[in-house]
Amino acid sequence: MTSKMPLPGELDPIETASRDEISALQLERLKWSVRHTYDNVEPYRQKCQAKGVHPDDLKCLADLGKFPFMTKTDLRDHYPFGLFAVPRTKLARLHASSGTTGKSVVVGYTQNDINNWGSVVARSIRAAGGRAGDMVHVAYGYGMFTGGLGAHYGVERAGCCAVPMSGGQTEKQVQQIMDFKPEIIMVTPSYSLVIAEEFERLNIKPEEISLKVGIFGAEPWGEGMRSEIERKLGIDAIDIYGLTEVMGPGVACECIETKDGPVIWEDHFYPEIIDPETGEVLPDGEEGELVFTSLTKEAFPVIRYRTRDLTRLLAPTSRSFRRIGKITGRSDDMLIIRGVNVFPTQIEEQILRDQRLSGNYQVVVTRDGHLDNLEVRCEVQRELSGKLSATDIQAISKELQHRIKTIIGVSTKITVMEFDAIPRTQVGKAKRVLDERPKQN
Ligand code: DLL
Repeated sequence: MTSKMPLPGELDPIETASRDEISALQLERLKWSVRHTYDNVEPYRQKCQAKGVHPDDLKCLADLGKFPFMTKTDLRDHYPFGLFAVPRTKLARLHASSGTTGKSVVVGYTQNDINNWGSVVARSIRAAGGRAGDMVHVAYGYGMFTGGLGAHYGVERAGCCAVPMSGGQTEKQVQQIMDFKPEIIMVTPSYSLVIAEEFERLNIKPEEISLKVGIFGAEPWGEGMRSEIERKLGIDAIDIYGLTEVMGPGVACECIETKDGPVIWEDHFYPEIIDPETGEVLPDGEEGELVFTSLTKEAFPVIRYRTRDLTRLLAPTSRSFRRIGKITGRSDDMLIIRGVNVFPTQIEEQILRDQRLSGNYQVVVTRDGHLDNLEVRCEVQRELSGKLSATDIQAISKELQHRIKTIIGVSTKITVMEFDAIPRTQVGKAKRVLDERPKQN
Protein backbone atom coordinates (compact mmCIF):
# COMPACT_ATOMS: atom_id res chain seq x y z
CA MET A 1 0.00 0.00 0.00
CA THR A 2 1.14 3.57 -0.46
CA SER A 3 2.27 5.31 2.69
CA LYS A 4 0.43 8.38 3.99
CA MET A 5 3.60 9.46 5.85
CA PRO A 6 6.47 11.72 4.69
CA LEU A 7 9.96 10.29 4.21
CA PRO A 8 12.41 10.17 7.15
CA GLY A 9 13.51 13.50 8.57
CA GLU A 10 16.20 13.98 11.17
CA LEU A 11 18.13 10.87 12.18
CA ASP A 12 20.58 10.46 15.04
CA PRO A 13 24.06 10.67 13.39
CA ILE A 14 24.93 7.14 14.59
CA GLU A 15 22.03 5.72 12.56
CA THR A 16 23.93 6.44 9.35
CA ALA A 17 27.52 6.12 10.68
CA SER A 18 30.01 3.71 9.09
CA ARG A 19 30.17 0.15 10.42
CA ASP A 20 33.70 0.88 11.69
CA GLU A 21 32.42 3.80 13.75
CA ILE A 22 29.59 1.66 15.11
CA SER A 23 31.93 -1.22 16.04
CA ALA A 24 34.34 1.17 17.77
CA LEU A 25 31.50 2.65 19.83
CA GLN A 26 30.16 -0.81 20.62
CA LEU A 27 33.54 -2.07 21.82
CA GLU A 28 34.06 0.93 24.06
CA ARG A 29 30.58 0.58 25.56
CA LEU A 30 30.79 -3.19 25.81
CA LYS A 31 33.99 -2.96 27.86
CA TRP A 32 32.23 -0.54 30.20
CA SER A 33 29.08 -2.69 30.48
CA VAL A 34 30.90 -5.97 31.18
CA ARG A 35 33.14 -4.33 33.77
CA HIS A 36 30.19 -2.52 35.38
CA THR A 37 28.27 -5.80 35.66
CA TYR A 38 31.27 -7.78 36.90
CA ASP A 39 32.07 -5.20 39.56
CA ASN A 40 28.51 -4.68 40.80
CA VAL A 41 26.53 -7.88 40.23
CA GLU A 42 27.85 -10.58 42.51
CA PRO A 43 26.07 -13.57 40.89
CA TYR A 44 27.40 -12.59 37.45
CA ARG A 45 30.93 -12.17 38.80
CA GLN A 46 30.71 -15.69 40.23
CA LYS A 47 29.57 -17.05 36.87
CA CYS A 48 32.56 -15.39 35.17
CA GLN A 49 34.96 -16.72 37.76
CA ALA A 50 33.56 -20.22 37.37
CA LYS A 51 34.17 -19.93 33.62
CA GLY A 52 37.64 -18.42 34.13
CA VAL A 53 36.92 -15.13 32.30
CA HIS A 54 37.57 -11.58 33.40
CA PRO A 55 36.54 -8.20 31.88
CA ASP A 56 40.22 -7.68 30.89
CA ASP A 57 39.82 -10.58 28.43
CA LEU A 58 37.49 -8.47 26.31
CA LYS A 59 39.78 -7.05 23.62
CA CYS A 60 37.51 -7.24 20.57
CA LEU A 61 33.75 -7.68 20.01
CA ALA A 62 34.15 -11.40 19.24
CA ASP A 63 35.69 -11.94 22.70
CA LEU A 64 32.20 -11.52 24.13
CA GLY A 65 31.60 -15.15 23.07
CA LYS A 66 33.88 -16.26 25.95
CA PHE A 67 31.55 -14.81 28.57
CA PRO A 68 28.73 -16.72 30.29
CA PHE A 69 25.09 -16.29 29.33
CA MET A 70 22.37 -14.87 31.54
CA THR A 71 19.02 -16.62 31.46
CA LYS A 72 15.52 -16.11 32.77
CA THR A 73 16.34 -18.64 35.49
CA ASP A 74 19.13 -16.35 36.77
CA LEU A 75 16.58 -13.55 37.00
CA ARG A 76 14.11 -15.72 38.87
CA ASP A 77 16.80 -17.11 41.22
CA HIS A 78 17.80 -13.61 42.24
CA TYR A 79 14.29 -12.17 42.51
CA PRO A 80 13.61 -9.36 43.08
CA PHE A 81 16.74 -7.15 43.07
CA GLY A 82 19.68 -9.58 43.18
CA LEU A 83 20.99 -8.70 39.70
CA PHE A 84 20.70 -4.94 40.04
CA ALA A 85 24.00 -3.10 39.61
CA VAL A 86 23.13 0.08 41.50
CA PRO A 87 21.84 0.71 45.03
CA ARG A 88 18.07 1.12 45.49
CA THR A 89 18.47 4.83 46.07
CA LYS A 90 19.69 5.30 42.47
CA LEU A 91 16.58 3.70 40.96
CA ALA A 92 14.04 5.83 39.13
CA ARG A 93 11.56 3.11 38.17
CA LEU A 94 10.73 -0.60 38.32
CA HIS A 95 8.91 -2.72 35.75
CA ALA A 96 8.08 -6.42 35.71
CA SER A 97 7.01 -9.05 33.24
CA SER A 98 4.34 -11.35 34.53
CA GLY A 99 5.46 -14.55 32.82
CA THR A 100 3.11 -17.49 32.58
CA THR A 101 4.72 -19.57 35.31
CA GLY A 102 6.47 -18.86 38.58
CA LYS A 103 7.67 -15.53 39.87
CA SER A 104 7.65 -12.47 37.70
CA VAL A 105 10.87 -10.91 36.51
CA VAL A 106 11.62 -7.50 38.03
CA VAL A 107 13.84 -4.94 36.32
CA GLY A 108 15.01 -1.48 37.38
CA TYR A 109 16.08 1.73 35.65
CA THR A 110 18.13 4.74 36.71
CA GLN A 111 17.16 8.17 35.41
CA ASN A 112 19.84 7.79 32.70
CA ASP A 113 18.33 4.44 31.70
CA ILE A 114 14.88 6.03 31.44
CA ASN A 115 16.35 8.82 29.27
CA ASN A 116 18.10 6.34 26.96
CA TRP A 117 14.95 4.24 26.73
CA GLY A 118 12.94 7.34 25.80
CA SER A 119 15.47 8.19 23.10
CA VAL A 120 15.39 4.72 21.47
CA VAL A 121 11.59 4.68 21.49
CA ALA A 122 11.59 8.21 20.01
CA ARG A 123 14.00 6.97 17.33
CA SER A 124 11.63 4.04 16.71
CA ILE A 125 8.69 6.40 16.28
CA ARG A 126 10.70 8.46 13.76
CA ALA A 127 11.71 5.25 11.94
CA ALA A 128 8.00 4.42 11.73
CA GLY A 129 7.40 7.79 10.05
CA GLY A 130 6.29 9.78 13.12
CA ARG A 131 7.26 13.42 13.43
CA ALA A 132 7.24 16.03 16.22
CA GLY A 133 3.73 17.41 16.45
CA ASP A 134 2.00 14.09 15.75
CA MET A 135 -0.52 12.71 18.21
CA VAL A 136 0.04 9.12 19.34
CA HIS A 137 -2.72 6.94 20.80
CA VAL A 138 -1.00 4.48 23.18
CA ALA A 139 -3.11 1.36 23.72
CA TYR A 140 -0.39 -0.83 25.20
CA GLY A 141 -1.19 -1.60 28.84
CA TYR A 142 0.11 0.92 31.40
CA GLY A 143 1.46 -0.47 34.67
CA MET A 144 4.19 -2.97 35.45
CA PHE A 145 4.19 -4.10 31.77
CA THR A 146 6.81 -2.06 29.89
CA GLY A 147 4.57 -1.43 26.86
CA GLY A 148 2.48 1.55 28.00
CA LEU A 149 4.99 3.67 29.89
CA GLY A 150 7.86 2.65 27.60
CA ALA A 151 5.95 3.89 24.56
CA HIS A 152 4.67 6.94 26.43
CA TYR A 153 8.06 8.41 27.34
CA GLY A 154 9.30 7.84 23.79
CA VAL A 155 6.26 9.64 22.37
CA GLU A 156 6.97 12.69 24.53
CA ARG A 157 10.68 12.51 23.74
CA ALA A 158 9.89 12.53 20.00
CA GLY A 159 8.02 15.80 20.49
CA CYS A 160 4.67 14.11 19.92
CA CYS A 161 1.53 14.23 22.06
CA ALA A 162 0.77 11.06 24.02
CA VAL A 163 -2.80 9.86 24.53
CA PRO A 164 -2.29 7.40 27.43
CA MET A 165 -5.34 5.24 26.73
CA SER A 166 -3.91 1.85 27.85
CA GLY A 167 -5.72 -1.39 26.86
CA GLY A 168 -9.41 -2.30 27.10
CA GLN A 169 -12.63 -0.27 26.73
CA THR A 170 -12.67 -0.81 23.00
CA GLU A 171 -15.68 1.41 22.35
CA LYS A 172 -13.96 4.29 24.10
CA GLN A 173 -10.72 3.64 22.19
CA VAL A 174 -12.60 4.06 18.93
CA GLN A 175 -14.52 7.11 20.05
CA GLN A 176 -11.33 8.81 21.17
CA ILE A 177 -9.57 8.03 17.92
CA MET A 178 -12.50 9.57 16.02
CA ASP A 179 -12.63 12.65 18.28
CA PHE A 180 -8.91 13.37 18.82
CA LYS A 181 -7.74 12.28 15.33
CA PRO A 182 -4.28 10.85 16.23
CA GLU A 183 -1.86 10.08 13.39
CA ILE A 184 -0.26 7.09 15.14
CA ILE A 185 -1.40 4.16 17.28
CA MET A 186 0.87 1.98 19.41
CA VAL A 187 -0.79 -1.31 20.37
CA THR A 188 -0.42 -5.09 20.16
CA PRO A 189 -1.27 -6.42 16.67
CA SER A 190 -4.01 -8.67 18.09
CA TYR A 191 -5.75 -5.81 19.91
CA SER A 192 -5.48 -3.58 16.83
CA LEU A 193 -7.72 -6.09 15.06
CA VAL A 194 -10.26 -5.85 17.89
CA ILE A 195 -10.23 -2.06 17.47
CA ALA A 196 -10.56 -2.50 13.70
CA GLU A 197 -13.60 -4.72 14.25
CA GLU A 198 -15.23 -2.02 16.34
CA PHE A 199 -14.69 0.46 13.48
CA GLU A 200 -16.32 -2.05 11.14
CA ARG A 201 -19.25 -2.54 13.50
CA LEU A 202 -19.82 1.22 13.48
CA ASN A 203 -19.51 1.19 9.71
CA ILE A 204 -16.54 3.59 9.78
CA LYS A 205 -14.39 3.13 6.68
CA PRO A 206 -10.55 3.07 6.78
CA GLU A 207 -10.42 6.37 4.85
CA GLU A 208 -12.50 8.07 7.58
CA ILE A 209 -9.94 7.10 10.27
CA SER A 210 -7.20 9.67 10.98
CA LEU A 211 -4.53 7.03 11.75
CA LYS A 212 -1.66 6.78 9.30
CA VAL A 213 0.74 4.46 11.09
CA GLY A 214 0.54 1.70 13.70
CA ILE A 215 3.56 0.58 15.72
CA PHE A 216 2.90 -3.00 16.73
CA GLY A 217 4.77 -5.43 18.94
CA ALA A 218 4.87 -7.44 22.18
CA GLU A 219 3.78 -10.63 20.40
CA PRO A 220 4.66 -12.49 17.21
CA TRP A 221 2.77 -11.51 14.04
CA GLY A 222 3.39 -12.39 10.43
CA GLU A 223 3.15 -10.71 7.02
CA GLY A 224 -0.44 -11.96 6.58
CA MET A 225 -1.42 -10.18 9.78
CA ARG A 226 0.40 -7.05 8.58
CA SER A 227 -1.69 -6.93 5.38
CA GLU A 228 -4.90 -7.63 7.31
CA ILE A 229 -4.25 -4.74 9.74
CA GLU A 230 -3.13 -2.35 6.99
CA ARG A 231 -6.23 -3.10 4.94
CA LYS A 232 -8.69 -2.82 7.83
CA LEU A 233 -7.29 0.39 9.33
CA GLY A 234 -5.85 2.00 6.19
CA ILE A 235 -2.42 2.48 7.77
CA ASP A 236 1.21 1.39 7.50
CA ALA A 237 1.85 -1.34 10.08
CA ILE A 238 5.35 -1.21 11.58
CA ASP A 239 7.01 -3.85 13.75
CA ILE A 240 8.57 -2.81 17.08
CA TYR A 241 10.45 -5.34 19.18
CA GLY A 242 11.67 -5.42 22.74
CA LEU A 243 11.60 -7.29 26.01
CA THR A 244 11.46 -6.33 29.67
CA GLU A 245 14.80 -7.86 30.61
CA VAL A 246 16.69 -5.89 27.94
CA MET A 247 14.70 -2.60 28.25
CA GLY A 248 11.10 -2.85 27.02
CA PRO A 249 9.71 -1.73 23.62
CA GLY A 250 12.25 -0.03 21.35
CA VAL A 251 15.18 -2.46 21.34
CA ALA A 252 14.54 -2.61 17.59
CA CYS A 253 12.00 -1.08 15.20
CA GLU A 254 11.22 -1.27 11.51
CA CYS A 255 11.63 1.66 9.13
CA ILE A 256 8.55 2.69 7.20
CA GLU A 257 10.43 3.06 3.90
CA THR A 258 11.49 -0.61 3.81
CA LYS A 259 9.36 -2.59 6.31
CA ASP A 260 11.98 -5.31 6.14
CA GLY A 261 12.40 -6.30 9.79
CA PRO A 262 13.15 -4.31 12.95
CA VAL A 263 16.44 -2.35 12.95
CA ILE A 264 18.35 -3.09 16.16
CA TRP A 265 19.47 0.08 17.92
CA GLU A 266 22.94 -1.41 18.05
CA ASP A 267 24.52 1.54 19.84
CA HIS A 268 22.58 0.46 22.95
CA PHE A 269 21.97 -3.28 22.45
CA TYR A 270 24.57 -5.70 21.09
CA PRO A 271 22.98 -8.71 19.37
CA GLU A 272 24.24 -12.25 18.80
CA ILE A 273 22.52 -15.31 17.36
CA ILE A 274 23.39 -18.62 18.96
CA ASP A 275 22.58 -22.25 18.40
CA PRO A 276 20.02 -22.84 21.19
CA GLU A 277 21.32 -26.36 21.78
CA THR A 278 25.09 -25.78 21.90
CA GLY A 279 25.29 -22.05 22.71
CA GLU A 280 27.73 -21.57 19.80
CA VAL A 281 27.63 -18.14 18.09
CA LEU A 282 26.19 -18.40 14.56
CA PRO A 283 27.08 -16.19 11.58
CA ASP A 284 24.68 -13.42 10.46
CA GLY A 285 21.86 -14.78 8.33
CA GLU A 286 21.53 -18.07 10.21
CA GLU A 287 18.44 -18.81 12.25
CA GLY A 288 18.91 -19.30 15.99
CA GLU A 289 18.23 -17.79 19.40
CA LEU A 290 18.62 -14.04 19.81
CA VAL A 291 20.97 -12.96 22.60
CA PHE A 292 21.42 -9.38 23.80
CA THR A 293 24.05 -7.50 25.77
CA SER A 294 23.09 -4.04 27.00
CA LEU A 295 25.74 -1.42 26.25
CA THR A 296 24.55 1.57 28.27
CA LYS A 297 22.21 0.29 30.98
CA GLU A 298 23.17 1.18 34.55
CA ALA A 299 20.57 -0.32 36.91
CA PHE A 300 19.93 -3.66 35.28
CA PRO A 301 22.69 -4.49 32.79
CA VAL A 302 22.38 -7.76 30.89
CA ILE A 303 25.35 -9.60 29.45
CA ARG A 304 24.53 -12.22 26.79
CA TYR A 305 20.90 -12.49 27.86
CA ARG A 306 19.17 -15.43 26.15
CA THR A 307 15.84 -14.08 24.89
CA ARG A 308 14.51 -17.48 23.66
CA ASP A 309 13.27 -15.63 20.58
CA LEU A 310 14.13 -17.37 17.34
CA THR A 311 15.20 -15.25 14.37
CA ARG A 312 18.14 -14.19 12.15
CA LEU A 313 20.43 -11.17 12.01
CA LEU A 314 20.11 -9.39 8.67
CA ALA A 315 22.42 -6.93 6.91
CA PRO A 316 21.72 -3.19 7.27
CA THR A 317 19.40 -1.53 4.72
CA SER A 318 17.74 1.80 5.55
CA ARG A 319 20.03 2.44 8.56
CA SER A 320 23.63 1.40 9.29
CA PHE A 321 22.45 -1.00 11.98
CA ARG A 322 21.62 -4.67 11.43
CA ARG A 323 18.05 -5.91 11.49
CA ILE A 324 16.24 -8.93 12.85
CA GLY A 325 13.99 -11.07 10.72
CA LYS A 326 10.40 -11.55 11.85
CA ILE A 327 10.43 -13.46 15.14
CA THR A 328 9.29 -16.95 14.19
CA GLY A 329 8.30 -17.55 17.80
CA ARG A 330 9.82 -18.15 21.17
CA SER A 331 11.55 -21.45 21.70
CA ASP A 332 9.04 -22.02 24.51
CA ASP A 333 6.02 -21.35 22.19
CA MET A 334 7.03 -24.13 19.89
CA LEU A 335 4.63 -27.04 19.83
CA ILE A 336 5.90 -30.48 18.94
CA ILE A 337 3.00 -32.31 17.36
CA ARG A 338 3.73 -35.92 16.48
CA GLY A 339 7.36 -35.00 16.03
CA VAL A 340 6.77 -31.90 13.90
CA ASN A 341 7.81 -28.50 15.25
CA VAL A 342 5.00 -26.01 14.85
CA PHE A 343 4.83 -22.31 15.72
CA PRO A 344 1.44 -20.61 16.05
CA THR A 345 2.61 -17.90 13.61
CA GLN A 346 3.04 -20.51 10.86
CA ILE A 347 -0.61 -21.48 11.31
CA GLU A 348 -1.61 -17.80 11.36
CA GLU A 349 0.11 -17.32 8.00
CA GLN A 350 -1.90 -20.14 6.42
CA ILE A 351 -5.20 -18.90 7.88
CA LEU A 352 -4.64 -15.40 6.55
CA ARG A 353 -3.97 -16.64 3.04
CA ASP A 354 -7.76 -17.06 2.90
CA GLN A 355 -9.33 -13.59 2.73
CA ARG A 356 -12.61 -15.03 4.01
CA LEU A 357 -10.97 -15.71 7.41
CA SER A 358 -10.08 -13.12 10.05
CA GLY A 359 -6.83 -12.86 12.02
CA ASN A 360 -8.45 -14.15 15.21
CA TYR A 361 -7.56 -17.74 15.79
CA GLN A 362 -6.71 -20.26 18.47
CA VAL A 363 -4.76 -23.47 18.42
CA VAL A 364 -5.93 -26.19 20.81
CA VAL A 365 -3.68 -29.13 21.63
CA THR A 366 -5.19 -32.24 23.23
CA ARG A 367 -3.90 -35.75 23.82
CA ASP A 368 -5.65 -38.89 22.76
CA GLY A 369 -3.80 -41.83 24.32
CA HIS A 370 -0.20 -41.16 23.33
CA LEU A 371 -0.98 -38.99 20.35
CA ASP A 372 -1.24 -35.23 20.26
CA ASN A 373 -4.07 -33.69 18.30
CA LEU A 374 -4.12 -30.17 16.95
CA GLU A 375 -7.32 -28.26 16.42
CA VAL A 376 -7.24 -24.90 14.67
CA ARG A 377 -10.18 -22.64 15.47
CA CYS A 378 -10.66 -19.74 13.13
CA GLU A 379 -13.40 -17.29 12.25
CA VAL A 380 -14.98 -15.93 9.10
CA GLN A 381 -14.81 -12.18 8.48
CA ARG A 382 -17.68 -10.10 9.88
CA GLU A 383 -19.29 -9.44 6.47
CA LEU A 384 -19.53 -13.18 5.77
CA SER A 385 -20.77 -14.20 9.20
CA GLY A 386 -24.03 -16.16 9.01
CA LYS A 387 -24.00 -15.93 5.22
CA LEU A 388 -21.94 -18.97 4.25
CA SER A 389 -23.51 -22.34 3.54
CA ALA A 390 -22.35 -25.54 5.23
CA THR A 391 -20.71 -26.50 1.93
CA ASP A 392 -18.74 -23.20 1.83
CA ILE A 393 -17.56 -23.71 5.42
CA GLN A 394 -16.53 -27.25 4.64
CA ALA A 395 -14.60 -26.09 1.60
CA ILE A 396 -12.77 -23.42 3.66
CA SER A 397 -11.74 -25.98 6.29
CA LYS A 398 -10.66 -28.54 3.72
CA GLU A 399 -8.46 -26.01 1.92
CA LEU A 400 -6.89 -24.80 5.16
CA GLN A 401 -6.31 -28.32 6.41
CA HIS A 402 -4.62 -29.20 3.13
CA ARG A 403 -2.38 -26.10 3.18
CA ILE A 404 -1.29 -26.73 6.78
CA LYS A 405 -0.60 -30.38 6.02
CA THR A 406 1.45 -29.72 2.88
CA ILE A 407 3.31 -26.62 4.07
CA ILE A 408 3.81 -27.19 7.82
CA GLY A 409 3.49 -30.97 7.79
CA VAL A 410 0.89 -31.59 10.49
CA SER A 411 -2.61 -32.96 10.38
CA THR A 412 -5.19 -30.73 11.98
CA LYS A 413 -8.86 -30.59 12.74
CA ILE A 414 -10.17 -27.26 11.47
CA THR A 415 -13.14 -25.57 13.10
CA VAL A 416 -14.44 -22.58 11.17
CA MET A 417 -16.56 -20.48 13.48
CA GLU A 418 -18.84 -17.50 13.06
CA PHE A 419 -17.37 -14.01 13.54
CA ASP A 420 -16.65 -13.12 17.20
CA ALA A 421 -16.82 -16.74 18.47
CA ILE A 422 -13.20 -16.69 19.69
CA PRO A 423 -12.61 -14.61 22.83
CA ARG A 424 -10.70 -11.35 22.20
CA THR A 425 -7.83 -10.27 24.43
CA GLN A 426 -8.42 -6.64 25.42
CA VAL A 427 -5.40 -6.12 27.63
CA GLY A 428 -2.03 -7.79 27.26
CA LYS A 429 -0.95 -10.41 24.78
CA ALA A 430 -3.31 -12.62 22.79
CA LYS A 431 -3.60 -16.19 24.02
CA ARG A 432 -3.22 -18.19 20.83
CA VAL A 433 -2.46 -21.65 22.21
CA LEU A 434 -4.66 -23.66 24.55
CA ASP A 435 -2.62 -26.63 25.64
CA GLU A 436 -5.07 -29.08 27.15
CA ARG A 437 -2.67 -32.02 27.32
CA PRO A 438 -2.30 -33.59 30.76
CA LYS A 439 0.75 -32.16 32.57
CA GLN A 440 3.81 -34.46 32.59
CA ASN A 441 5.25 -35.18 36.01
O1 DLL B 1 6.47 -7.22 25.15
C1 DLL B 1 7.93 -5.31 25.33
C2 DLL B 1 7.19 -4.67 24.21
C3 DLL B 1 6.08 -3.89 24.46
C4 DLL B 1 7.65 -4.83 22.91
C5 DLL B 1 5.41 -3.29 23.41
C6 DLL B 1 7.01 -4.19 21.86
C7 DLL B 1 5.89 -3.44 22.11
P1 DLL B 1 7.78 -8.61 27.44
O2 DLL B 1 6.41 -8.60 28.00
O3 DLL B 1 8.92 -8.87 28.34
O4 DLL B 1 8.10 -7.23 26.75
O5 DLL B 1 7.78 -9.68 26.27
C8 DLL B 1 8.90 -9.83 25.47
O6 DLL B 1 7.54 -10.55 23.61
O7 DLL B 1 10.84 -11.82 24.05
C9 DLL B 1 9.13 -11.68 22.30
O8 DLL B 1 8.92 -13.06 22.53
C10 DLL B 1 7.79 -10.99 22.27
N1 DLL B 1 7.83 -9.82 21.38
C11 DLL B 1 8.01 -8.53 21.70
N2 DLL B 1 7.96 -7.76 20.57
C12 DLL B 1 7.78 -8.61 19.52
C13 DLL B 1 7.66 -8.46 18.12
C14 DLL B 1 7.40 -6.68 25.71
N3 DLL B 1 7.70 -7.28 17.53
C15 DLL B 1 8.66 -10.90 24.44
N4 DLL B 1 7.52 -9.59 17.37
C16 DLL B 1 9.81 -11.04 23.49
C17 DLL B 1 7.47 -10.80 17.95
C18 DLL B 1 7.71 -9.93 20.05
N5 DLL B 1 7.55 -11.00 19.26
